[in-house]
Order: sequence, then structure tokens, then C-alpha cells
Amino acid sequence: MKYPSRKSITFKAEYREFMRLIIINGPNLNLLGKRETDIYGNQSFDSYFLSLVNKNLEIDLSYFQSNAEGAIIDKIHEIGFEFDGIIINGAGYSHTSVAIGDALAAVPARSIEVHISNVYAREEFRHHSYLTKNCVGMITGLGLTGYQLAINYFIENPEL
Ligand code: DQA
Repeated sequence: MKYPSRKSITFKAEYREFMRLIIINGPNLNLLGKRETDIYGNQSFDSYFLSLVNKNLEIDLSYFQSNAEGAIIDKIHEIGFEFDGIIINGAGYSHTSVAIGDALAAVPARSIEVHISNVYAREEFRHHSYLTKNCVGMITGLGLTGYQLAINYFIENPEL
């Protein structure tokens, strides 16, 4: 993907130009736009991510998706000591993975948990997440807009 050039507005620290945020999406979210569209909508995450990048030119925004628990943990380890914030939708792993929750606790980067659907309006097994405790907060049920809201939080609350 080619991104437009960005102008720096948000300074994290003198030595770094952009606040660095990453969106980490868990299993099956690669199928957004095709998967259970009545719940998750018609838009692919690639196209939504491009619109997020274009709307948030003052930050450095990355995206990672994996269907593998270990790959998600490795990514958190890789970026969690460098990036300013993690926006994580652990998808099904949110409800099962002690290890992803532990990985979020292990790194200094702050995290926000996002769910596209309202997990509290769905089956009971979706009501608990092993990630929430290690996140600043959680956004659920606001569709893809939840990712933008999480970005807004980091922009308005930089840890300078
Ligand atoms: C989800 C909710 C989870 O319960 C589910 O397993 C997902 C997506 C959401 O974004 O609404 O895969 O995290």
C-alpha cells in the first residue's frame, strides 16, 4: 500500500517525529467484509485501514493481523517496547488467551481493546476477555469506528 506523505503534529518525544500506534487484529478478522456481514459489516479491513491512515496523518499507524496466537504474542513483544500504543482486537482469542493478556502486561506500550460487535449483547462466552485487565480501556459495539476512537484517545492522551 502507498500512503500519502504526512505532516507531523503529534510529537511523542524530541527524538521521534510521530506517535507510533499499531492495530493488531486477531483470528478471522482477515475476512472482514465477507464474514458474517450482518454482524461485522461489508467493509474489508484493508480498505478501512487505508481510510484510517488518510484521516490520521499526524501519527504513524501500522497494522498487523494473524490467525495464530503465537504470532500475535511475538508482534506484541516486537513492537511493545518501541511503539506508543497498541489497539488490539483479539477476536476469539480475547475470550481464551491468558497468554495474549500476559503479553500486553509484559510491554510498556499502552493498549486499548476494540471489538466491532457489542460482545455484551452476544453469547455469554464473549462477555469475558483476558485482555481487558491489561488495557487502558475497551470499546465494543461501535463497529469499525471503534478503531478511530481508540486512535483519538492516544492522540489526546500522549504520554510525554
Ligand atoms: C470480535 C468479537 C469476538 O467475540 C469474536 O470472536 C470476533 C470478533 C469483534 O470484533 O466483535 O472474532 O472481537
